[in-house]
Amino acid sequence: PSEEFLFKHKGFYFHPGHVTPEYIDSLEDFEIRDSDVFVVTYPKSDCDDGRLLQDITNTISIKTVSNKAIFFPRNVWIQNILSFIYHEGHRDGTENMKIIARVPWLEYNVHNMDYVHRPSSRLFTTHLPYYLVPRDLRNRREKVIYVARNPKDVAVSYFHFSNFSVMLETIPDFNIFLERLLAGKGKFHLLGWSTHRDDFNILFLTYEEMKKDLRGTVLKICKFLGKQLNEKELDTVVENATFDKMKTDPRANYESMLGNLLERGKGHFLRKGTIGDWKNTMTVAQSERFDNVFKEKTKDLSSMFSWD
Ligand code: PPS
Repeated sequence: PSEEFLFKHKGFYFHPGHVTPEYIDSLEDFEIRDSDVFVVTYPKSDCDDGRLLQDITNTISIKTVSNKAIFFPRNVWIQNILSFIYHEGHRDGTENMKIIARVPWLEYNVHNMDYVHRPSSRLFTTHLPYYLVPRDLRNRREKVIYVARNPKDVAVSYFHFSNFSVMLETIPDFNIFLERLLAGKGKFHLLGWSTHRDDFNILFLTYEEMKKDLRGTVLKICKFLGKQLNEKELDTVVENATFDKMKTDPRANYESMLGNLLERGKGHFLRKGTIGDWKNTMTVAQSERFDNVFKEKTKDLSSMFSWD
C-alpha cells in the first residue's frame, strides 16, 4: 500500500499534491454552463487492495452529457473522440493542443487553468464518483454515457499500466496483482453510477462496440449529443480516434507525461488496444476466480453487461 500516493476523502481516493479535500468539496457548487463538457472517468488509483478493487470498475467510462453540457467518460479514447467532435482545430487554433489541455481534469487542475473564466465550450474530465460531481449535473437533463470494458481486459491493462506508472505501486507478479485486486473491499464506481442511473440520463457504451464499429459509435455519440457532423468531419474524428493514429499522436498518447507520470522505456499508455488480451495473460484458474468474485461483487449488474 502506498499511502503517500493517495488520501481518502468521502470514500474516494485522491492524489495529494494535486488536490485538497476543500477543493473537492467546493466542486459540488461548481457552476456549470450549458456549453460545458465533463468527461467523467474512473481513476487508475492505487494498488492497495481496497483501492484496486475500485479499479475493476475502471472498465467503465462515464460520460455525462447535458444539453450542450457534457459529462463524459474516463477513457482517453473517448476523451479524444469528444475533443475532436468539439474542437474544430483549424478554426479555433486548438489543433496542436494535447487532450489533457483540451479536456483538463476537474479535480486535478494540474496546469492551474482558470476554469471559471475558461471560454465555452469548456471540456472537463473527472474521475469523481456520482455523489461528488457538481450538484447541478444531477438534474436528469444531463446525459450520461457509460463506457464499459471487459473487466478482465481492464485488469490486464491496469496491471501493465501500474508497472510503468510512477504514481502506482509496482507489482510485477500478475497473480499477486490479481489477488490484491480481487481482495479489495472498495465500492464499484460503476455500481454507484448505475444504481443512481435514474438521477441521470445515461447512454451505455462498451469499449468492445467502439472497437468493432468506431464510426458507428462516433455517430451514436454525436446523435446523443445532438451534434451534426458532415461526412468529412466525421471522417476526421474517426481517423484521429483509431488506435494506430492515437498511439503516434503526441496530442493524444500521453507520452508527454513520461517522467512525470510514466516511466520511460517501461511501457506505453496506448499499449495494445485490443479485445480479449486477458486470454494471453490469465490462466483458466485465474479467469474462473475472477468471474466468481466479479459476479458476486456486481450481481446487481449482471443483467447489464456480459463479456466473452
Ligand atoms: S485511464 O488512465 O483510465 O484513462 O486509461 P484508459 O484510457 O481508460 O485505458 C487505457 C486503455 O485504453 C486503450 N485505448 C484504446 N484502445 C483502442 N483504440 C483506441 N483508440 C484507444 N485509446 C486507448 C489503451 O490501449 C489501453 O488499453 P490496453 O489494453 O492496455 O492497450
